[in-house]
Amino acid sequence: MSASRDQSAVRPVDRRPVHASITEEQISDLVDRFYDRVWSDARLGPIFSARLENSRAAHLAKMKSFWSSVLLRTGAYTGKPVPAHVSLEDVQSADFERWLSIFRPVAYDAFSSEAAPLVIETAERIASSLWLAMFGNPFSSPPDWRKSGLQQEKQA
Ligand code: HEM
Repeated sequence: MSASRDQSAVRPVDRRPVHASITEEQISDLVDRFYDRVWSDARLGPIFSARLENSRAAHLAKMKSFWSSVLLRTGAYTGKPVPAHVSLEDVQSADFERWLSIFRPVAYDAFSSEAAPLVIETAERIASSLWLAMFGNPFSSPPDWRKSGLQQEKQA
């Protein structure tokens, strides 16, 4: 057996759910509620409807498999989020803050108060990697989502 195989045997991939209370029903609820709000958002709604006018139901099904993979580690999603976003020319950096400011309260509605912060942290991590793929250069780091989120709430 090679050395690299030995290493993978002692460091198995973490397959535990992000929180033990998270269920597929809660994920389905999160996705339905989140996209209801996103689709009626003045800034983000048109970006989604331009791309998904005739495939809204298919997008919701895909997003349920994505969150199932991410939160429950089911492996249900096999797509590639980075190219899907890099090709969205009308998205601006600040749109990520808007996306997260819609996501956070929906996560608190859909999940337990223990699970919701972990789900939000996960979304923020993925937002950072998508932001870097879309707007990053070798010298930039993603915005501090917590700070910008709080500022948005203060302004509201
Ligand atoms: C500014 C924020 C965002 C905008 C405007 C946005 C918009 C979109 C749009 C329009 C699509 C459909 C692309 C297509 O099928 O042609 C899409 C797909 C997707 N988005 Fe986002 N998104 C944003 C942030 C995020 C974040 C933060 C996540 C994850 C936490 C995410 C996860 C995904 C995934 C998994 C897909 C499916 C990719 C695939 O086709 O496999 N998005 N997004």
